[in-house]
Amino acid sequence: MMTSDAPIGVFDSGIGGLTVAREIMRNLPMEKIVYFGDTARVPYGNKSKATIVRYSLQITNFLRTQGIKALVIACNTATSMALPEVSEFAGMPVIGVVEPGARVAAETTRNGRIGVIGTRATISANAYTNAIHSINPSLNVIGQACPMLVPLVEEGWVHDHVTDEILMRYLDDLLEHDIDTLILGCTHYPLLRSAIKRLVGNQVNLVNPAYETAKELERMLGREGLASDSPRNQDEPYPYRFFVSDEAEKFTDFANSILPVDVGRARMIPIEEY
Ligand code: DGL
Repeated sequence: MMTSDAPIGVFDSGIGGLTVAREIMRNLPMEKIVYFGDTARVPYGNKSKATIVRYSLQITNFLRTQGIKALVIACNTATSMALPEVSEFAGMPVIGVVEPGARVAAETTRNGRIGVIGTRATISANAYTNAIHSINPSLNVIGQACPMLVPLVEEGWVHDHVTDEILMRYLDDLLEHDIDTLILGCTHYPLLRSAIKRLVGNQVNLVNPAYETAKELERMLGREGLASDSPRNQDEPYPYRFFVSDEAEKFTDFANSILPVDVGRARMIPIEEY
């Protein structure tokens, strides 16, 4: 029996999902979070569907041992490749990041031309195109795989002229299609937001699905009667717990640099055993 004061499970292939966890912390301050970053096996974006499904199910299995009440797949690649499998397996409400991002892009575009950047897996699965077309089939969606961006973010090269040049190679094509909306279709990319904004200019609206995912999570918890309604008291244990499959210290440093709270210590777990 799931209780409303149980934590929410959030996972990603690495640090990218922290951009989603950050929005959940900001928008749903009464909710607890158990985060898992698969730092030993990142990146997922160049791997096959079978592998991404297997990894996602192992992580779901691990997060279930933490007594979670709902699960957020804070990774576009895992959402694109494994959302139905995870939903079937989890035995609790599950949301991904693609649908919420697609909805806001479909609602806000003015000229009907939407660009999407993501990993190879996300773009080749046509995840955003399908989600946007199920809302409005007349919209034009142009996808661009950007396989080099995740390693650059994982390395911390977010303000670097090399990253700018690589970004420009990826974005040039999209800009030629006269897009007015660009979906940051990988949870690592909001960390490059200021560079991307500078390169695409003010006429292109950036959509960060992390924000919409937090809103969707709030609606879903309300619908399911799972929203936490008791403010935490001082004696309660720390509300956010972090687990990784490798390099816990590096992850902790990074998480502390982008989250509005002190992360404590991320713990390493043997994810292959789940
Ligand atoms: N952050 C992930 C995403 O949203 C994937 C990055 C990767 O592991 O390739 O797609």
